Amino acid sequence: MRKIGIIGMGNVGAAVAHQLIASQMVDDLALYDINEAKVNADALDFQDALANLENHVNITVNDWSQLRDAQIIISTLGKISLTMESKSDRFAELRYTRKALGDITANIRNSGFNGVLVVVSNPVDVITALYQELTGLPTSHVLGTGTLLDSARMQRIVGEQLGVDPRSVSGYNLGEHGNSQFTAWSTVGVLNQPITELAKKNGWDLEHFAQLAREGGFAVASGKHYTNYGVAAAACRIVSCVFQDSHTVLPVSHYREDYGVYLSYPAIVGRDGIVATTELALTAEEKAKMESSAEFIKERVAGSRD
Ligand code: LAC
Repeated sequence: MRKIGIIGMGNVGAAVAHQLIASQMVDDLALYDINEAKVNADALDFQDALANLENHVNITVNDWSQLRDAQIIISTLGKISLTMESKSDRFAELRYTRKALGDITANIRNSGFNGVLVVVSNPVDVITALYQELTGLPTSHVLGTGTLLDSARMQRIVGEQLGVDPRSVSGYNLGEHGNSQFTAWSTVGVLNQPITELAKKNGWDLEHFAQLAREGGFAVASGKHYTNYGVAAAACRIVSCVFQDSHTVLPVSHYREDYGVYLSYPAIVGRDGIVATTELALTAEEKAKMESSAEFIKERVAGSRD
């Protein structure tokens, strides 16, 4: 049975739960939120959908023992209003989310969960590192959506220039899921052509495209005060790789020995989370940006400890 726990049933958690149910990706959902009325209402609302769905889903609420035999936990708790008030810094949510982690990770440990923990909660690279430390789960079992979402924004932006499906654009945003991330243009291509060549031919400003991708979350949140569907799709993509043991290469936040920190870099994702890390042939400039982003995250992780 495919069983998933979702911690935090705000806009992101609800979008993740809905996509998992509507895409028939789950058989058992364990939902958690401190707002009992809201999470019970979400569960009831989903149960009202079952008569009109092809698949059945068993749903429980705030029962931590349900995690014992879950394969995956998705952490979506957070307070995006703090990020929005800070004008663009996802680290504004750190204190709030860090404070909640104590009880949550104790409940995860006590449940006997030994599956894959997918972190959406921001600042995702630091929160992913803290989840791993506080749960004691194997490092490879704990990963964050990271720049999988930012890469999707870059793919959208480049695809729009050529009128093609974002899935026809290869390449990655790397580093922090935040302001120190960057687009590794040396990895980006369409129609088997490097984007750098296409940019020269078409007079595109790649730095502008990189900025649009980096700031894509705020473009969405400026209109609706949060984001949810894009990051829910990223989380569900990871869920699919875990359940199918697909060994798909995705730019997710995970622990990199060479940088000594959780950050986003392509990794092979399968049943037990990070199956293997990879090595990109980055340019010297891109390697420098990678180091800089790693240092930025390290400083923040150090600052987040009690
Ligand atoms: C965003 C949030 C998930 O970038 O950080 O949409």
